[in-house]
Formats: sequence, structure tokens, C-alpha cells
Amino acid sequence: MSVAPEIAGRDESEASASDTKALPKVQIHGLNFFYGTNQVLRSVTMDVPALKVTALIGPSGCGKTTLLRCMNRMHDLYLGNRYEGSIVVQPDGTDILDASVDPIQVRMRFGMVFQKPNPFPKSIYENVAYGLRLQGMNRRKELDEKVEKALREAALWEEVKSRLHQMAHNLSGGQQQRLCIARAIATDPDVVLFDEPTSALDPIATSKIEELIVELKKRVTVMIVTHNLQQAGRISDMTAFMYLGELIEFGDTNRMFTNPAKPQTEDYISGRFG
Ligand SMILES: Nc1ncnc2c1ncn2[C@@H]1O[C@H](COP(=O)(O)OP(=O)(O)OP(=O)(O)O)[C@@H](O)[C@H]1O
Ligand SMILES: [Mg+2]
Repeated sequence: MSVAPEIAGRDESEASASDTKALPKVQIHGLNFFYGTNQVLRSVTMDVPALKVTALIGPSGCGKTTLLRCMNRMHDLYLGNRYEGSIVVQPDGTDILDASVDPIQVRMRFGMVFQKPNPFPKSIYENVAYGLRLQGMNRRKELDEKVEKALREAALWEEVKSRLHQMAHNLSGGQQQRLCIARAIATDPDVVLFDEPTSALDPIATSKIEELIVELKKRVTVMIVTHNLQQAGRISDMTAFMYLGELIEFGDTNRMFTNPAKPQTEDYISGRFG
């Protein structure tokens, strides 16, 4: 089957329209989530595009962190939490909520970076090597190479290369957060989840992390929770607006910020609530 005629016949606007319909990396379908009897996510359905940055926005308590934590099965750590629906990861089509799927394997595919930098009480080197060792890598040369690659990708290598064996806690807050990013990407996850990664950082450290996230999407899919709408506008391709556990609107960031389809989205982005 030839696809050439369609491609040849495409004009600019069709090409860019198809660009925003990138292949889905994660397909969330009919997702409900309960903390015991407290239902916090209600029938969330969205296709997270591959190799894009997707921002999750919405007022405090609407379920952004809860959604992010469903994606790496973090909620499994506590008794009484319950998922319904599916979260299918492409291209293999694995439903990561399926009972047969090992949550540890899921966490290898979904790296996570939290609001407050949380390096392990170990050296800079061992923080990055940690997940690699869990994956069974133990040859020094291979570990050294992977650690350096991850630190370079996290734009931290030049600042730490002469003190890799010092404790991570001696780094500044912004450096610690970049170390956590290096730790999250070292194991080659498919998706990196960021939960308000810059809210504890100053503007310079923040802009470094933002640059890094934009760079990262060349090879991983990114989802980021942010309260900072300017930040969502600067770095995300797609935006999901949530309210009271529901996904109200999901679409191209530029379109949503200039021409929201739903009145609640408009109220939120114009600062009328939240
Ligand atoms: N462990 C828990 N047990 C019970 N309810 C919880 C738990 N964690 C969160 N919730 C509730 O779930 C709802 C969604 O919380 P979540 O942390 O996902 O919101 P959020 O959108 O990330 O908010 P914020 O912007 O303040 O971080 C809130 O009503 C919250 O009180
Ligand atoms: Mg949160």
C-alpha cells in the first residue's frame, strides 16, 4: 500500500493539523480512582501524545496529582485505593492497571519528579545509578557512561563532574531537582511525570528546568502538573484542564489559552477562580 500520494497532496495547514494528532503514547480510558470510598477521578479519558509535553492544570484538589500517580501505580502502596478503567501504554498496548502487571515494572516505564527535590541520602553518582542497579546493571564502565549521559541530559554534568561521590544533599535546591530528573531519566523511561517541579525553585533554577523539559521531549513523553499558567503556556504542547475530578477540556495549548471551548476553562485561565 502506498502512502505517497496523500503525503504529496498535503498542504501546510493539513501537515500542521496532523502534527498535533501525534501518535498516542498513553491512552487513559474511563479512569475512576477512589481513596477508599472517596472517588477523586471521574471517568477521565484522554490520549497523551508521544514525544510532546502535556500540562495538567486546574484548581487545588481537582485531582492532578492523583491522576499522575495513577500513571505509575503509586497508589498501590496504600491499602484501600482502587482504580477502574484502563491506562494503555503504546506501542505494546499494555494496560498498566491490569492486575497481572507488576507495579515495579510500571515505575520503570514512568519516571517521576516531585515538587520538592527528594534525592536519596547517597552520593550524586549513586542517586543516578540507583535505578540502573535495580535493572541489573553492575559493570562499572557501563554505569559510569549511563550516569554521565543522564547528568548531561539533566544539564548538571558540568557542575558536578568533579564531585560525583559527594552527598547529593550538598547541592542547591535547583541542582537537587536536576539530579532528580537525571535519576528519573537514567533508566530510559517512556514517560516522565513532573508534579509541580519548579514550585520550590527561584526563577533562574525554574527556567533551567523548563529548558530541560523542552529538550527532553525529543526522546521521552512528558506530563507536567503546574499551577503556573505561564509555565504551561511556555513549555507544553497540549493542556488538560481538570475540575472536581473530571477532565473538562483537553487540547492544543495555544488554542486552549486563546480560545477555550468550555466556560469553566475560560474562568480558570482568566483567573476568575482557582
Ligand atoms: N491519601 C488520600 N486519601 C484521601 N483523599 C485524598 C488523598 N490524597 C488526596 N485526596 C483527595 O483527593 C482530591 C484530589 O487531590 P490531589 O492531591 O490529586 O489534587 P491536586 O489537583 O493535585 O491539588 P493541588 O493542586 O493542591 O496539588 C482532594 O480532594 C484530596 O483531598
Ligand atoms: Mg497536587
